[in-house]
Amino acid sequence: MLRIAVFVSGRGSNLQAILNAIPNDLRNVEISVVLSNKADCPAFDRVREYQIPTYSISYTHKEGYITFLELPAILKELKIDLIVLAGFLKKIPDEVIDLYQNKIINIHPALLPSFGGKGMYGMNVHNEVFNASAQVSGATVHFVDKIYDNGKIIAQQCVDISNVKNPDEIAERVLKIEHKLLPFVIKKFSENKIVLRNNRVYLLEE
Ligand code: GRF
Repeated sequence: MLRIAVFVSGRGSNLQAILNAIPNDLRNVEISVVLSNKADCPAFDRVREYQIPTYSISYTHKEGYITFLELPAILKELKIDLIVLAGFLKKIPDEVIDLYQNKIINIHPALLPSFGGKGMYGMNVHNEVFNASAQVSGATVHFVDKIYDNGKIIAQQCVDISNVKNPDEIAERVLKIEHKLLPFVIKKFSENKIVLRNNRVYLLEE
């Protein structure tokens, strides 16, 4: 069983996509904990019906929040194998990245290495893609290192956006891809089918 910790900041549709895949493709995966930087994160509502613990997490001491300093002990206690950032807007501290090297993945709503970096999240990304007049966009799942959106790319899927009229249409098309791509990568990880070779990531076939 692959035990994952999912970090969220918003509506949690990617978290929902993982939850939906668990009875099917992800039968060997368990969401062991969900964490958010917001105590009232809408994504938390999605796990209420399951017995999945949730934590609100902050850099500083705040009522009702754990701090990032406490995170390594919690992840260890829960025997977390993989950290999944599914729309998490805060930076994971370097100490945690050192502890979970190549065991933290992030979903980004564009084709990295373009349209990434600090401040490039949510509609900011789709606005830039639209204003650049990019003709394709897509989703990227990548390993997380100490620099925003910089880690090795694990999987990408693109979508034609040549006929979109606004950034919202891009967001809609990309989100559909995200909901397939993230569970796909988690499945590959659970099967040990993600390998680093020649300084690149390879996904092994069945
Ligand atoms: C997604 O577009 C994800 O790629 C980005 O933030 C958004 C989160 O959406 N990092 P949701 O909370 O999963 O619905």
